[in-house]
Parts: sequence; structure tokens; C-alpha cells
Amino acid sequence: MHALDVLDRRRSVPSRLLSLPGPDDAQLDALLTAAMRVPDHGKLAPWRFLLIRGPSRAVLGERLAARALAIDPKASTAALEKDRERFNHAPVIVAVIAAPVEGHKVPVVEQLMSGGAVCFALLQGAQAMGFGAQWLTGWAAYDREILAGLGLAPHEQLLGFIHIGTATAEAPERVRPELAAKRTDWRP
Ligand SMILES: Cc1cc2nc3c(=O)[nH]c(=O)nc-3n(C[C@H](O)[C@H](O)[C@H](O)COP(=O)(O)O)c2cc1C
Repeated sequence: MHALDVLDRRRSVPSRLLSLPGPDDAQLDALLTAAMRVPDHGKLAPWRFLLIRGPSRAVLGERLAARALAIDPKASTAALEKDRERFNHAPVIVAVIAAPVEGHKVPVVEQLMSGGAVCFALLQGAQAMGFGAQWLTGWAAYDREILAGLGLAPHEQLLGFIHIGTATAEAPERVRPELAAKRTDWRP
């Protein structure tokens, strides 16, 4: 029941509400190790982690702002500031990167889903450890120049930036789907 309770109470904590302390090295190791226990067709482990911590966070924010300005020289100051600050809230950001094995009999979509499960496992694990977390992508997750700067190879994809830290306020709840609208019995 405890595991179901964790799932039942799960909710994201918006990254702007995440602050110090974040998971320490030992906690991060435990979290990442647990997250790797996802279902993985073909045992390909077609994903990897990139940790963005400490001063690297602000450097990434500066890169986003510079890239946003290069893409749109008329970008508003507010939009650039938002990009600059994106990674400055949570103390730890785990970028989950899909590294699919192309041409394998396991379809790439299944490999990507395994990576998505890694992202969700990180959210659950972080919450179970008492931290708050949020899974974010944003435009940067799809910008090849930003991704190249993070060391992604052309065939790799950024599945999510998992922001992890301590919640500074209670996370807002949102309306959840009604189960009745989502379930049916198949009656052939
Ligand atoms: C793949 C993926 C990418 C997401 N990217 C963003 C994002 O860029 N910005 C955002 O506000 N929410 C994003 N979300 C939604 C949040 O992770 C989260 O679901 C939302 O804040 C609602 O909170 P909840 O998890 O408690 O339902 C994303 C979710 C997923 C699954």
C-alpha cells in the first residue's frame, strides 16, 4: 500500500518552488540507480543521465538566453530573463537523454518509452525521498544547438529535464482526469 500511496499523492512541484537542499551525491546515486530499473525491451539501456548542478545551471541559462536572442532578435527582455533563470531554481537537474539503438528489432518508440519511464521513476523516487520534482522540457530540449552544447549526439534526444529540490511552498494540485472517462471493458 505504501507504494500506491506514493503514486496516489504524486504531484509535481513547479521548478520555481524548488530550492536547497537537493539530493546529495549518495542520494543521487540511489535515485538514479532506482530509476534505471525500468522495463527495457531488449535490455538496451537506451538512455543516460546528464547532471546539471551548481554553477553549470546559470551557464546553461545564459546559453538559452543567447540562443533565444539569436533565433529572435526581437525577443522580449522578460522572455530572455525567463530563459536565463530556467535552471537557477532547483539545485539539481537531471537531464534524461534517450540514446536509441537504431535499426534494432526493438522499435525506437519502445526505447523512448523506456526513457520516459526513467523520467517518471525519477519523479517518484525524488518524492519518496522527501524532495519535490518537476519534469520539464521547453524549447531548449528540441534545439539542436543547445543539445550539441550539452554533448548530445545527433541521434540522441532530450526526454526531460528533471528538476529536483526541496519545496519552498505546497505544490498546487490540478484537476485530474476522471477514471470513468478513461476506462472501458473490451467486450468483443
Ligand atoms: C514530457 C513532458 C514535458 C513537460 N514539459 C513541461 C514544460 O516544458 N513546461 C511545463 O510547464 N510543464 C511541462 N510538463 C508538465 C509537468 O511536468 C507537470 O506534469 C505539470 O506541472 C503538472 O503537474 P503534475 O505532474 O502534478 O500533474 C511536462 C510533462 C511531460 C510529461
